[in-house]
This record gives sequence, C-alpha cells and structure tokens, in this order.
Amino acid sequence: MGKSLAQITAEFAPIPGLCLGAELLCGIIELCENITTNKHEVRQLRDRCHHLLLTAKESEERNVSGGIKNALQSINDCLTDVKTKMHGWTMLSKTQAFLRQAEIKLDIERSHAAISDCLTKFQIISQVEINQWQEEFAMNVKLDHQEIIEYLSEIANQQEILRLTMDGTHDSVKQVKQMMEMFQSTMNENKHVADRTHVGLSSNLYQLQFQSNEILPDLHLNSGEVQRIGQFPVSGTAAMDIYEGLYLGREKVAIKVVRAVNSNESSLRRFRREVKVWAEIWRLDRGKHVLPFYGFCQNDGPFPYMVSPWQPNGNALSYVKTYDHKVNYRQMIKGIALGLKVLHDMEPPVVHGDIKAANIVIDNFGHPLLADFGLSQIVEDITGIPFTQSRGVSDSYRWFAPEVCVGEGRLSIMSDIYAYAMTVLEVLTHQQPYRNIKHTTEVVIKSSLGQSPARPMEPEVVRRGLDDSLWALLNKCWSLEASKRPTIYQIIELLPS
Ligand SMILES: *[C@@H]1O[C@H](CO)[C@@H](O)[C@H](O)[C@H]1NC(C)=O
Ligand SMILES: *[C@@H]1O[C@H](CO)[C@@H](O)[C@H](O)[C@H]1NC(C)=O
Ligand SMILES: *[C@@H]1O[C@H](CO)[C@@H](O)[C@H](O)[C@H]1NC(C)=O
Repeated sequence: MGKSLAQITAEFAPIPGLCLGAELLCGIIELCENITTNKHEVRQLRDRCHHLLLTAKESEERNVSGGIKNALQSINDCLTDVKTKMHGWTMLSKTQAFLRQAEIKLDIERSHAAISDCLTKFQIISQVEINQWQEEFAMNVKLDHQEIIEYLSEIANQQEILRLTMDGTHDSVKQVKQMMEMFQSTMNENKHVADRTHVGLSSNLYQLQFQSNEILPDLHLNSGEVQRIGQFPVSGTAAMDIYEGLYLGREKVAIKVVRAVNSNESSLRRFRREVKVWAEIWRLDRGKHVLPFYGFCQNDGPFPYMVSPWQPNGNALSYVKTYDHKVNYRQMIKGIALGLKVLHDMEPPVVHGDIKAANIVIDNFGHPLLADFGLSQIVEDITGIPFTQSRGVSDSYRWFAPEVCVGEGRLSIMSDIYAYAMTVLEVLTHQQPYRNIKHTTEVVIKSSLGQSPARPMEPEVVRRGLDDSLWALLNKCWSLEASKRPTIYQIIELLPS
C-alpha cells in the first residue's frame, strides 16, 4: 500500500487498543519482503491484514457495534498467526519453498478465513468483500504459478536449480525427486512439445536427472517426455518393435513397443506395478549390469511402449562379431552373470525370462547390460497367455529350458540359469545354440531328452575361453532336472575373474 512502517504506526496510534495489531502488521510487512515463492498471494494477505486493522479503527471511531472491544483478541490472534506462519515461510530455503508452495497456498487460504471471521465480528463484512478477495486470490495463485513455470523453464536458471536441489543435505535425494515431480506436472500442463516452455522444462529436467543420477519419480511418461523419431521401427524382436526416440529433448532412447499387448486399463495397472521393480533395480544397480527403464508410455499409439537408453554398441551378438579380437570374453560372461544376480537378488526374485545375446546390450565401455527384464512377466500377465506360448516367441526356444517348452511353460530363476548357459555358448561361438540343427522343433525334442549342445572344438572358441571347467559348468546349467542347476551365486564363484 506504499506506506512506510512509521506511517502505519502513526496511523493506528490514536487508538491504543490497536497498537499491538499495528506492531504485528509492521512485522508482517517486513517479512513479506523476504518471501521467495507465492509472492502475489502473500502480498495480498499482507494487504488484507492492513484492511482488517483499518476496519477495526473505523469501527472504533464511529462506535459501531460496540467498537473493537469484542474483536480485539481475535484480531491480535489472527495477526500473530499470520506473522508466525510467514516467518516460517521466510526460513525455508528457496528449494524448500518451491516444493511446499501448495502447502503455503493452503496456509494463506486459512489465514484469509480467519480474517473473514474477525471482520464478521464487526458485522460489516459483506459478501462483496468476500467475493472480492477470493477473486483476487485466484488471480494471484495464477500469477504465482506462472512465475514458477517461468523459473523452471528458464535455461539460465539451470545451474541454480541443480545447486539448490542437490544441496548435499540428507534430504537431497528426496528433494531431487520432489523437484522432478514438479517438473513433470508442469510439463503435463504444457504438453505442446514444440513450445518454448516445454523445451526449457525438458532441458532443465534432463540435467537434473543426469546430474543426480536418479530416474523420474513418475515413470508413466505421459507429459511429452519422449518423442518418437521416424515413422518406422529401426529393429525389433519377435515380441517388440524398436523405434528411436528422443528423451527430454536431449538423449537418444530406444522405444520398445510391445506388440502382444493393447493399451488399456489392465495393461496400465500391470505397468504401474512393474515400475516399482524397475525403480528398485535402478536404485541397486545404477545401470552397471542391467539396462534401466526410463519409463513407459500408454497413450501414444495403440500399443504401450517402454523406454530405455539407446546403446550405440548394439547387442552382445553383433558386438562380439564386430570386435572379436578386442572383446574380453571372460569379463563379458561374468558381466552377464552379475546382471542376472541383480535380478535374482530381488525379493521376490525377478525372472528375466528371455535371456539371449540379442537381449543383452553393450554399453559405451564394452560392458554387457541385461535388457528387457521382466518383460515376459508383463506380457503373460496382461494377455493371460504364458509368455512361452505367446506369438513370435518360438525364436527363443533354443535358449529355453525343456520344462519351459512343454506343459504350462513356467519361467523360473532355474530356467534363467539354463538360458544363461546357452547365451554363454552363443557369445563364445557367435552362433545360436544347437547351431547344427536347423529346425527349432528338433531342438525342443533334443533338449527335452536332456541332449545338450555338442561341444565346439574350434581353436577360436577355445581361445575365447571355453575350457574344460567352463564346459562342465555349462553342462550343469543344462541339467534336465531344474533343481540340479547351480544358482547364479555358485556360477559367479566358479567363473574365472
Ligand atoms: C530479510 O532478509 C534479510 C537478508 O537475509 C535479513 O537481514 C532480514 O533480517 C530479513 N528480514 C526479516 C524481517 O526477517
Ligand atoms: C458507544 O456505543 C455504546 C452503545 O452501543 C455506548 O454505550 C457508548 O457510550 C458509546 N461510546 C462512545 C464513546 O460514544
Ligand atoms: C486389454 O488388453 C488385453 C490384451 O492386450 C486383453 O486381453 C484385455 O481383455 C483388454 N482389457 C480390456 C478391458 O479391454
């Protein structure tokens, strides 16, 4: 209202009963200068506190409704409460204030209600005044929100956002998550991906994710976090088409469209359940042995898709073929086992279900990462058909344990072990298991009779590491009786470093 504190003190001095109120108001006006969020809302609250005192003064001067006597206590209580709350808000760091703006807004609304109660005591509050502050408040909420969007989407604020959010306190991780949540919900309000606001939000959010090494709190990516590049898939497997995508406007990603599954309520539920597992695996592994999921999308096309970082080195099979002499095979075999250990370590264990070289990608350092874990379970759950019997999966029969190919076709950690050993053979020979057998049906028959693949004797396969002890280990993994197979922990013990 443009008055100095001295002027305000003088304004109420003639009425001794309002001295305390005037003092509180001065405190509120000072505090108001130090507020970092909800500025418009807070200023309005300050001004209405002033209005309350002016009304009290006028009422006393005109001796209406018995003056201020009856209302004095309520007025002082109300102003004290506002001042205390406001003091609390100024004590918050900028990040904390940001993260608690909804709470602050609610507090402000409650304070307004208390002021209205005081005004009622003078019997002069009118519906007009109530409507007026509410209208004004709604406008201020919008203005404050707009300021937040502008702040979050401004690239020039990136360093400050990172510094304030990852401040090294014990709350840091929680803060990062909450800030990311705010980014995602803001993006959801500004979905137009070409929009400057969306671009800025994406960019700042990407930096936050990259620098904090966390994944997004809401893995249902329905706010334009991912854009498809190109109309056609760049590759695919039996169950999936793979498209290129751009994640948060920055990083190239693989978009994996699950063809066996329609986007609908039940698939959404299933994904939501799965997401907890993804996040937990990420927390434990940080992308060292298992390719992370960045999220899934349900409302972009008829089929849901999953999003993973793009791995330019391709899958394990093409990699060993291209870089045969550069590859450390022992390390690769061990790396794959360590990835499987991450999954089997979970409580309950996560069954991969489709381990083979095509489902293992190679990171920038040449290390293998297990991809698409748990996908088999998702498909099974949503379609109600065992994964092993679903469309196009017969490609994988050469890696499947015999108990998987018959009857119910239950996948288990034991069938993962069987497939792991087939994958080791595949990586060492550069060829699919049972390479001399053309028909998959024949492979299924052979494996169900306990006839494991013939031992390859080529010198290059031996050079890559297939010695007697590894061969013996692989054969144990191929035991017809699942319970006789070693666990992943035993395998890791036995593998040479
Ligand atoms: C506002 O912030 C300044 C600088 O941090 C500080 O010196 C001042 O005491 C604060 N004012 C109030 C009323 O807390
Ligand atoms: C104020 O009004 C009350 C009655 O409403 C009356 O008793 C009192 O004398 C008045 N006081 C003054 C200062 O006029
Ligand atoms: C959802 O899709 C799955 C297969 O993709 C189907 O089995 C199921 O019946 C669908 N549910 C609804 C409610 O449409």
